[in-house]
Amino acid sequence: MDKKFQRTLVTTALPYANGPVHIGHLAGVYVPADIYVRYLRLKGEEVIHIGGSDEHGVPITIRAKKEGVSPQDVVDKYHYLIKKSFEEFGISFDIYSRTSSNIHKKTASDFFLELHNKGEFVEKTSEQYYDEEAQMFLADRYIMGECPHCGNQNAYGDQCESCGTSLSPTDLKNPRSTISGSKPVMRETKHWYLPLDKHEEWLRKWILEDHKEWKANVYGQCKSWLDMGLQPRAVSRDLDWGVPIPLPDAKGKVLYVWFDAPIGYISNTKELLPDSWEKWWKQEDTRLIHFIGKDNIVFHCIVFPAMLKAEGSYILPENVPANEFLNLEGDKISTSRNWAVWLHEYLEDFPGKQDVLRYVLTANAPETKDNDFTWKDFQARNNNELVAILGNFINRALVLTQKYFNGKVPPIHELTDYDKQTLAEFADVKMAVESSLDTFRFRDALKEAMNLARIGNKYLADTEPWKLAKTDMARVETILNLSLQITANLAIAFEPFLPFSVDKMRNFINVKNLSWEQLGSVDILPAGHQLGTAELLFEKIEDDAIEKQIQKLLDTKKANEIAEHKVAPQKPTVTFDDFTKLDIRVGTVLECQKVPKTDKLLQFLLDDGMGKRTIISGIAAHYKPEDLIGKQVCFIANLAPRKMKGIESQGMILSVENADGSLSLIQPSKEVGPGSPVV
Ligand code: MF3
Ligand code: ZN
Repeated sequence: MDKKFQRTLVTTALPYANGPVHIGHLAGVYVPADIYVRYLRLKGEEVIHIGGSDEHGVPITIRAKKEGVSPQDVVDKYHYLIKKSFEEFGISFDIYSRTSSNIHKKTASDFFLELHNKGEFVEKTSEQYYDEEAQMFLADRYIMGECPHCGNQNAYGDQCESCGTSLSPTDLKNPRSTISGSKPVMRETKHWYLPLDKHEEWLRKWILEDHKEWKANVYGQCKSWLDMGLQPRAVSRDLDWGVPIPLPDAKGKVLYVWFDAPIGYISNTKELLPDSWEKWWKQEDTRLIHFIGKDNIVFHCIVFPAMLKAEGSYILPENVPANEFLNLEGDKISTSRNWAVWLHEYLEDFPGKQDVLRYVLTANAPETKDNDFTWKDFQARNNNELVAILGNFINRALVLTQKYFNGKVPPIHELTDYDKQTLAEFADVKMAVESSLDTFRFRDALKEAMNLARIGNKYLADTEPWKLAKTDMARVETILNLSLQITANLAIAFEPFLPFSVDKMRNFINVKNLSWEQLGSVDILPAGHQLGTAELLFEKIEDDAIEKQIQKLLDTKKANEIAEHKVAPQKPTVTFDDFTKLDIRVGTVLECQKVPKTDKLLQFLLDDGMGKRTIISGIAAHYKPEDLIGKQVCFIANLAPRKMKGIESQGMILSVENADGSLSLIQPSKEVGPGSPVV
C-alpha cells in the first residue's frame, strides 16, 4: 500500500431496505468490494468493511402504507433478508447495521446540528404541494399529472416516463396526489439547504485536478455535474419517517434520506469500534474507499464530501470506484417489475453455487459500461471455465497424486526446459493480479487468476504424467509436485474471488492458512506433506436448469405485459399494393379436430367456396374443436403451404391475441357466402 496510508476503510452503498437484493447489487457493489477487502486482508493489511441497510426515505413509507404496516415493519423484514443474502454469498462485512438504529439517529442528528451551528446551511422558505386530505407535503414522486411536453396523463412530479423529460411538480397540468387522489395545494414550508455552490471551487480542484486517476465513468460524471454548476440542495423533508431535525422550529421535518444515509457509514463504524472509530474517519493515514453504483456517484463524490468538509474534522474519500449497471437478458433490472435474479431465489435453485455467481458477475462486471447478464453466458462460464479449466486441473492434480503417491506430495527433481518455461509464465501472475486489484479492475484480476489455472491445465495436458508412470516415475514426481504447487497458488489467487471454493481447496491440500505473500512461490507444499481428500469443485450445469430460469423470466415478462396492458409497437408502413397482395377470405368450418400428440394445434377443414381446404391453426388451448363446426372464420388463402406435423396447411386462420395471451377467432358479424373476400 501507498506509504501515505496505514489502513483502508471500505464502505459499500447502504441498500434500501424496501426489497430483497439481486444480482445487480452484487455485481455493481458488493462482490467487487468483497474481493477488495479479502485481498487486503490476505496481504495482512489493516482494513474494515462497513455496510448496512438504508432504512429511511419516502418509498419505504409508501410501501408501508400500501401493505397496511408500519415503516419499521417494512425495514425489519427486508433488513434481515438482505443481511442474510449477503452472508450467504460470503460478502465479508465487519459490520452490517442499519440506519434506524439509535446510534445512527444520534450520529446523524449531531452531524446536522454541528453544521447548523457552524452556519453551514442556508434556510429557505418555499411553496410546495401539500395533500390536505392526507395532511402531508408531497414528495415529487407522489404527484402525478399531465406532462406539459407530450400530454402523458401519468407523468410524475420529477419525470415523465413517457417522453423522458425531467420535470418539477409545478410543471404538471392537473396535478393529483397519488396518496389520496386529491388535488394538492401550495403551502409554504421551510427547509435547510447545503449550499453546494459555495463548495464548488475546492470540489473542482479536489476531483478534476487531484483525482485524475478515478475511473473514467466516475470522473466524467463528476465533471459534467461540476460544469453545469452546483446548486444548494435541501437536506430536510416534510415527512414523519426519518431522523427528526434537531431544532425547535422543525416539527414534522426529518433529514433528507440522502443526508442521513452516508452518515450511516460513520454510525456503523462507531457501532463496530466505539473506542477507535475516529482513527478510521479522521486520520489522514486512513484510505477511505466507497464502493457504489453509478446512480450514487453525485452523492458520494460531491454531496457527502461537501458535508464532511463542512464539518471539518473528517477525511475525504481517496477513491470511489463506481460501477455501471448490470442488465438482465437485455432489459434493465427492476424491482417493481420483478425483472431480476433475486439472491435468495438463486440459492434455492442453485444451492451451494455462490461462487459460480460470484465468478460470472465478476467476469462480466459492468466496470466501464453497462453489461448484460444472460443465463446462457452463466452456463457457458461455469461449464467452460470453472469446470473445464479450474476444476479439471485441480481434480487431475489431486487424483493423480492420490493414485501414484497415496496422497503425499512427491519430491521434485531436475526441471526440464518446459517446466522452466511454465514457471516463467506463472511468475508474472502475482504482479498482474495485484496491479489490477490495486486499480479496481476486478475483471482483469480474475482473468489473470484464471490464467494461472490455464497454465496448470495446459502443463498437465502437455506433460501427460499418466503415460509416464510405467517408465519414468521421477518425472511424474516432478510434474505432480509442480502441479500441486500451482494448486496451492490457485488457493491463494482465488481466495478474494471464490471464497467457498478456496475453503474446499485448502482442505484438499490440507493447509489451513495461506498468505498473499506466498503467491508465486513453488515451495508452498513440502515433499511428503499429506494431502486431504478431494471432491469435485464445480459441476456442469445442464440445459434444463438454464431453460427453467429463462422460462421464469419469460413468465415475468408476460405478467408485466398484462399488468401494463402493453400494446405491441406498430410495424413499418406498407403500401396499399402490399396490402392487396394478401388474399383474405371467409370460410365455413366443415370439420375440426385436434392434431394428435400436440397441445396447441387444431386441424380445420374449410369450405372455401371453391372446394375444401385444410388449415392447421395454433388455437387448441382456446377453443374446443366441436364448438367450431359450422362457424365462419377468416383465413389467408394465398399463403405458401407449410407442412406441420406431417400435414400440409393451406393458409392461415386469423385470430386476435389479447394482452393476456388468449386467442380469439375473427368472424364476420353476419353470415356470408364461403370464399367471400375481405376487402
Ligand atoms: N440506498 C441508496 C441506494 O440504494 C444508497 C445509499 S448509499 C449511502 O441507491 F451512502 F447513502 F449510504
Ligand atoms: Zn412527457
